[in-house]
Amino acid sequence: MSNRTFTMIKPDAFRKGHSGAIIDRFIKEGYRIVALKLTKLSPEKAGEFYAVHKERPFYGELVEFMSSGPIFAAILEKENAVASFRELIGATNPAQAAEGTIRKLYASSVGENAVHGSDSDENAAIEGAFFFSGLEQF
Ligand code: RTP
Ligand code: MG
Repeated sequence: MSNRTFTMIKPDAFRKGHSGAIIDRFIKEGYRIVALKLTKLSPEKAGEFYAVHKERPFYGELVEFMSSGPIFAAILEKENAVASFRELIGATNPAQAAEGTIRKLYASSVGENAVHGSDSDENAAIEGAFFFSGLEQF
């Protein structure tokens, strides 16, 4: 069990002005910010990030959406970070997300679901390194 996870505030939440509230929630829930940046994925980079979903029917839409505007990328630290953070963000489909979760509060659909959270310790490390050099992690 590792104590770090990787997250993105997706283009929909950024566009709607929810970034501040979401970052505040991360901090209030006890996550320490290890790295944070505002950036934008090119379609190529978004495709690479979500390459595991290449064969899925929603892949094209996902790549287009994730490259449609700025995102906040972050590495967060807390005990049992990956699992606890997945609980905090809620189900992929906001209609199925529990009350009070970030997706329940800020997501509008399964495609535009406000935040990303790593699904394993291994992927958290890979995804963090995708966005941040060692010098950008504190
Ligand atoms: P994420 O990777 O973004 O944290 O989301 P997740 O683990 O909850 O869901 P995952 O299965 O990894 O899917 C990645 C993202 O693809 C989009 N998606 N669209 N239209 C659809 O049926 C559909 N299914 C998934 C979502 O944006 C999802 O977060
Ligand atoms: Mg996922």
